[in-house]
Amino acid sequence: MKLRDSGMPAEAYWEMLFDVPLILDRLGIDAQLADVAELGCGYGTFTVPIAQRIAGTLTTCDIEGTMVARTTQRARQAGITNLHCEQRDALTDGFGVAPSSQDACLLFNILHGEEPVKLLAEAARVVRPGGAVLVIHWRHDPATPRGPGLDIRPRPEQIIEWALQAQQVEPDGPVLDLPPWHYGIRLRRWGNCS
Ligand SMILES: C[S@@+](CC[C@H](N)C(=O)[O-])C[C@H]1O[C@@H](n2cnc3c(N)ncnc32)[C@H](O)[C@@H]1O
Repeated sequence: MKLRDSGMPAEAYWEMLFDVPLILDRLGIDAQLADVAELGCGYGTFTVPIAQRIAGTLTTCDIEGTMVARTTQRARQAGITNLHCEQRDALTDGFGVAPSSQDACLLFNILHGEEPVKLLAEAARVVRPGGAVLVIHWRHDPATPRGPGLDIRPRPEQIIEWALQAQQVEPDGPVLDLPPWHYGIRLRRWGNCS
């Protein structure tokens, strides 16, 4: 099932709305990470630069074949070989990776959808103990030029509450400011680092 309010505007417009290097730096996405999973690649806005930063494989998916095709095309053009991108309904079929197999799992601009606790629980399930679930979302601010309706747009404290309900993860540091329009949350899966 396609998550509510998860359609995309034109690619060029969407990509004006983020400072991608700043977001990845502040979330700590770098070569210290091996395998990473992502839900909803969209145009590959984050997928491609993340695949270029990490040491392992990035596994991503989207329910829309056009988004999978565009992300795959951009990765190929960039010479990326550590990306696995497939069409998939992550809500019903999961993220396509084994339990406890990932250093991080990314939920970017997605937790306004139905069943956020289920998505957070699945993200926590696929990361190893000590691994990270990394969330970004639109600020709850009517000045934002885009983003889901404010009635379904979660504030940071709502996401933290959902994460606690999902269990297995706890906040890892303060809420991050990701200007111009986003915030970020780092969650850490319970258990020892490996
Ligand atoms: C708002 S966009 C965000 C894309 C990307 N994460 C980003 O921040 O640029 C949400 C994406 O999730 C995809 N999506 C919606 N429901 C999904 C589902 N059930 N399984 C996988 N992808 C889904 C949409 O097609 C869309 O490309």
